[in-house]
Amino acid sequence: MTGHDGTQTPMVVAHQVRKHFGQLEVLKAVDLTVGTGEVVVLLGPSGSGKSTFLRCINRLERLDGGSIHVQDELIGFRRTPAGIRHLKPREVTRQRRDIGMVFQHFNLFPHLTALANVIEAPTGVLREPKNEARARALELLERVGLADKADAYPRQLSGGQQQRVAIARALAMRPKLMLFDEPTSALDPELVGEVLATMRDLARDGLTMLVVTHEVNFAREVADRVVFMDGGRVLENGSPQDVLDNPAHPRTRSFLSRFLTASPAPER
Ligand SMILES: Nc1ncnc2c1ncn2[C@@H]1O[C@H](COP(=O)(O)OP(=O)(O)OP(=O)(O)O)[C@@H](O)[C@H]1O
Ligand SMILES: [Mg+2]
Repeated sequence: MTGHDGTQTPMVVAHQVRKHFGQLEVLKAVDLTVGTGEVVVLLGPSGSGKSTFLRCINRLERLDGGSIHVQDELIGFRRTPAGIRHLKPREVTRQRRDIGMVFQHFNLFPHLTALANVIEAPTGVLREPKNEARARALELLERVGLADKADAYPRQLSGGQQQRVAIARALAMRPKLMLFDEPTSALDPELVGEVLATMRDLARDGLTMLVVTHEVNFAREVADRVVFMDGGRVLENGSPQDVLDNPAHPRTRSFLSRFLTASPAPER
């Protein structure tokens, strides 16, 4: 059930999202939709607002304008007869629960084994019975290729293995949406492939994913759509072929030229 047939409710609808930090306008009326089952890769130069945008989706940042809906639910606000109200922190936590997030730095609990890291939130937050959570955690570790590392502590794992545990840990909350913020950029080059392969499998299984990454080949092979952001605006939004091979905007071309060094220089 991969792909987006246009008939389902979109998973994410961001409309005219604005965000500033003091005088700095970081998001300037960003519109972006992620269909259910879709994989969208978000590219853009440093400081273009990619992380801030992801953080707005799960309400780690408050918007200054516009709206974000996740599966028809308005993030961060509640409509009441008296108007729109900010959600209470507890309600924000509840909304965030359904949205998995994987960061550049995996932040596993160092004193817990891989298995215990994966079990922690479902038993603590969702109050799942321990034996059920444990069985599912073992399945998830198997899914990310780490069935044999259940009892290892983070320090006994490579960076790529730690990141795959972090992915399993996020999946343990049964998220309807996964946000990835440069999940491979802190890894040694030889460890990047195993994490991208895990993400490719999740995409094939139909998980809805919004992925910030500079891995252009991953975008080409796995993404349904590629979005290029620069200066807090979406400059491109299209198929991987359109955006990567035939970008409309000169800024996209100059950005991509840094990552596509293998391609021959254009003829003059
Ligand atoms: N909490 C904050 N307070 C002040 N400024 C911030 C804050 N968070 C981000 N910024 C600024 O907002 C801008 C966008 O940052 P953001 O982290 O979203 O960019 P990015 O596209 O993810 O960049 P990178 O590729 O380097 O991760 C930057 O100029 C950054 O310095
Ligand atoms: Mg970032």
